Amino acid sequence: MMGQIKVLDQNMVNTIAAGEVIERPASVVKELIENSIDAGATEVNIYIEDGGKGLIRVVDNGCGMDSGDLALAFEPHATSKLKTSADLLNISTMGFRGEALASIAVVAKVSVVSRPADTMAANRIEIDCGSKDEVRPCSSDAGTTIEVRNIFYKMPARKKFLRTANTEMTHIIERFTRIALAHTDISMNLFHNDRELYRLPAGLGVRQRIGNLFSAEFAETLLELASSERNLKLTALLCRPENGRANAKFQYFFLNGRFIRDKFISAAVREAFRGLIEPDKYPVVFLFLQMPPQNFDVNVHPTKIEVRFDDSNLVYSQILALVREKLLSLDLDVQAKLPKGGQVPTQEGQDAKQSIAGAMAEFFSHSRQGIVPQRYFGFSKVAQKSDSAAVEQREHFYEKGDLQAVPSPQYLQIHDSYIIAQTEDGFLIIDQHALHERIIYEDLCRRLTCDGGAKLESQKLLVPESFELTDAGAQVLEVNKDLLQRLGIELESFGPGVWAVQSFPSLLGGVKIVEFIVDMLDVLADSVGKIDSERLLHKILNLAACKAAVKAGQKLSPAEINKLLSDKNAIERVSRCPHGRPTAIKFSLAELEKQFKRT
Ligand SMILES: Nc1ncnc2c1ncn2[C@@H]1O[C@H](COP(=O)(O)OP(=O)(O)OP(=O)(O)O)[C@@H](O)[C@H]1O
Ligand SMILES: [Mg+2]
Repeated sequence: MMGQIKVLDQNMVNTIAAGEVIERPASVVKELIENSIDAGATEVNIYIEDGGKGLIRVVDNGCGMDSGDLALAFEPHATSKLKTSADLLNISTMGFRGEALASIAVVAKVSVVSRPADTMAANRIEIDCGSKDEVRPCSSDAGTTIEVRNIFYKMPARKKFLRTANTEMTHIIERFTRIALAHTDISMNLFHNDRELYRLPAGLGVRQRIGNLFSAEFAETLLELASSERNLKLTALLCRPENGRANAKFQYFFLNGRFIRDKFISAAVREAFRGLIEPDKYPVVFLFLQMPPQNFDVNVHPTKIEVRFDDSNLVYSQILALVREKLLSLDLDVQAKLPKGGQVPTQEGQDAKQSIAGAMAEFFSHSRQGIVPQRYFGFSKVAQKSDSAAVEQREHFYEKGDLQAVPSPQYLQIHDSYIIAQTEDGFLIIDQHALHERIIYEDLCRRLTCDGGAKLESQKLLVPESFELTDAGAQVLEVNKDLLQRLGIELESFGPGVWAVQSFPSLLGGVKIVEFIVDMLDVLADSVGKIDSERLLHKILNLAACKAAVKAGQKLSPAEINKLLSDKNAIERVSRCPHGRPTAIKFSLAELEKQFKRT
């Protein structure tokens, strides 16, 4: 067959292009607000009806357009923002493709009223799904008002995909939020069906804007950091590790005022929080990058949500270093909150007071009366002997020679679960299991990543330990064989439905092997296809650390306590167990003195 190919008419071309840029009402809102920002507006008001399916009206006080510009603005590839091809390498505006208005105008009924600030002459133009009216004079304030009605009304196939007004509004709010976060110098207000949803005054800074968009409490707890190095300026607000969220919704990355998604940035943030935040939680991060426009390409995606960095390693490593350093500098011990003196205590306050008072009484009664059992405070031979079986069992956690007889008159184990340790300005109550778990986890991570890294050292078992495994279980093993190899776990089929452990990581010597393997298989089976291999590895390391750590209710020798506490100081990030729970609660002398009314 011949003569099948023909060039599409311009309206068809625009309609096809519109599909890329305008997906739903929220895309229109985004494009219009961005145009207002590029027009230098200091105030943008957005009025929505029926989730944007009825009406989107954006009113700005920007530079406006004269009649000539109004006639051109809706033509495809019409832009005031690029003059020469060299400008493409130096983009500092939100828009540059000259596509947005043309795309909007082919899918809806649009009307624009605009007046440049330096003239009283305002003009109006209307476009109905690509068919354009004349530009007509009218009267109006300086700036531009664009109304977009009945989106997709001539395109039933696309209209079908629009959701309820509430859902579409959620998308609009998300786009509004992204832009508002990056442009705190602009006053932005959003209304839905005549109801004011957001009123965001200009000039109050990012933290205040986050407060206005989310909540003041949320904004208050965020940590603030900044760095500037080799052309890359970074500022960030992030949550403390204990305040992570169940999804990545509160991760906002901006490059030169534009919201972007980027896998390098996400990876850097994840890595910075690794081990500090519960494995299933996501940090809250507002990250603002500034770099010269020549150092990245924004022209790789129709909605500009992705960019290509010339040096993505620099971006990755600078974000990682900044965030990591900040997190490690935090005092992650949980500060005990004692009830305020002098107030009528609430029930909650009363309970806290009583439990703290109980712990205190126990602590001081021992020390004052001098009846502290010797084995707690000194390293007595007798104690060593009586506990020797337990100690021996746990000795594999420590390098040889680590368990030294160091007198340690300032530690006390209570309920065989918590260690009370005096500090310079108060004392700590340490959860022995949580702390030990953390220490082992760190050790495992370090051996896997730093020391040449590939694989944990393992030991061949003299007598292989067998366990039952279904075919589905065997499949899970097969899928995860690389992971097992890294962990130094070697499993072999012993016959139908029976497998045996041949080798096991030396570091986990005290762990009940089969019990661990069974639990690990559960984790692996649950995780198939859900999390990436890095997260999975750390999940398994968490499990291993939990199994290998001393338990609550386990009596520790003074030497073991010493070792735990010296490791606490030595190993980074020990303030949180791998599950993100605190390992220690801190009490300050000042607080105590207040409580005992000594001050
Ligand atoms: N609110 C506004 N105030 C003043 N001028 C505007 C406004 N909106 C659009 N314009 C003018 O219309 C032109 C076309 O806008 P359009 O959004 O289609 O393209 P763009 O912003 O240049 O690029 P992009 O397609 O990447 O957004 C702009 O370049 C600008 O000159
Ligand atoms: Mg634009």
